[in-house]
Amino acid sequence: MKKFYITTPIYYVNDRPHVGHLYTTMAADILARYHRACAEEVFLVTGTDDNAQKNMEAATKAGKPVAEYVSEMSAVWEQTWRELGISFDSFIRTSSKEHIAAVGAFFKKVETTGDIYKGMYEGAYCTGCESFKTDTELVDGKCPLHNRVPESVKQENYFFRVSKYRDALLDHISTHPEFIEPSSRRNEVTNFIKDHLEDFSISRPNNGWGIPVPGDDAHTLYVWFDALINYVSAVGYGSDEAQFKKLWPADLHLVGKDIIKFHCAYWPAMLMAAGLPLPKQVFAHGFFTNEGQKISKSLGNAIDPIVLVKEYGIETVRWYLTREIAFGEDGDFSIERLKERYNAELSHGIGNLVSRTLGMAEQYLGGVVPGHTAEDQNAGIWKEYMRAMDEHRFDKAAGVIRDYASSLDNLIALKQPWVLKKEGKNKEIEEVLYTVMESLRHLGHMLRPFMPQTAQGIFDRLGISDQADQDIKQAQKWGLLAPGTKITKGTGLFPPLAKE
Ligand code: MSP
Repeated sequence: MKKFYITTPIYYVNDRPHVGHLYTTMAADILARYHRACAEEVFLVTGTDDNAQKNMEAATKAGKPVAEYVSEMSAVWEQTWRELGISFDSFIRTSSKEHIAAVGAFFKKVETTGDIYKGMYEGAYCTGCESFKTDTELVDGKCPLHNRVPESVKQENYFFRVSKYRDALLDHISTHPEFIEPSSRRNEVTNFIKDHLEDFSISRPNNGWGIPVPGDDAHTLYVWFDALINYVSAVGYGSDEAQFKKLWPADLHLVGKDIIKFHCAYWPAMLMAAGLPLPKQVFAHGFFTNEGQKISKSLGNAIDPIVLVKEYGIETVRWYLTREIAFGEDGDFSIERLKERYNAELSHGIGNLVSRTLGMAEQYLGGVVPGHTAEDQNAGIWKEYMRAMDEHRFDKAAGVIRDYASSLDNLIALKQPWVLKKEGKNKEIEEVLYTVMESLRHLGHMLRPFMPQTAQGIFDRLGISDQADQDIKQAQKWGLLAPGTKITKGTGLFPPLAKE
């Protein structure tokens, strides 16, 4: 069985999740569900980055011991993803015993290559980014991302000799163009490696939080050197060789564009140093603003996904986030746009199509799937859908679904079953309604990764509840909706939104 190991970034726990975090996590969930539907062995990992300095600062602000604060907040993240139906297979915490042991093993392995050395570090550190900043990255002495003056630090640190891997990294990127997607990000990373890749500090003086440097408790590991290792520790590096062998390398790391340097330069170099294969792909998506503004705690405009979902439902939120921006591009989150898409694409779109079709089937066919000679019209659509999904462009695949639903609306408008009824053309009614109902079955299967409950709702109404888990490649065959199956119109899938 083919495996598919997919990851999200592990999130800092200095705050609760917002809709931007949901975006990445949901994207991973959609792709995981798709690969499961293709009968692959999927492993989806998400989790929390517990050891960051910013978590420590947040704990101090909250007046709580850091370990207690981090545990509480990590549970909030895990619970949020559970409530939102994210189908993760493992939730990793970097303060867990297993992870700490894996980091130790990884560090020691890299140490044997001579790529870790001690040196003096003098420079600027932005806790917002959890990253050292070069002069060229600062604007008026401030970190432009967090609008604050970074801390100046001068200390003896351990360094990782990433410079040794410069040529190997450039070579890997040019011989594996699929390694970094989309291609605009590939250029960005290549330029960074060519012009700015310098050995980086991987430790700081131990201030009581973080993973101690193996063999030197006076230092803790720099949070990225620890956090990136979650991708291997989550699948058994250093603890479960069999699982590790089965799942590593990752098929896909999904990340936001803000952390591409860490994933496409530092991480592959660390893996090369540890003698491990590289992930097959890093896909960096864009950022959501909220009604035009950057989403940030200080602006107080972070949208809590739980609150959003209470109001509009998880399926609507998933559809909206998928459709609103091309995967890889930036975009804006707007409640008005969410409502517009709900009305046009779900309530008047897919929802209306399903209830109209099944309403006619009840009225004209006694609610029973008829015999037919209708021919496959969907092969081209499936091809387009699968290609988009295989390229991880799930936004494109959702566009295919949307167009498919519109084409079925057009078919009904063209054939006008109600006119055929008046004319007594019963055979033609059977042909057209079979075509649309069978197409709704296909549409249901295409929707599974995006809106699992809606897909189930379509299968239930079509009288084929038991087909919801069918291998998507089997489900593509034309004509699987068997004549004689009892359908029910049921309630609307997307009731009109309450007026404000
Ligand atoms: N802890 C690090 C990642 C370590 S991975 C080994 C980190 N955490 S984070 O909590 O800041 O999450 C960053 C990720 O959240 C981004 O890369 C992105 O995937 C997601 N997003 C955060 N804000 C976002 C938006 N406004 N829009 C879209 N995604 C956003 O960085």
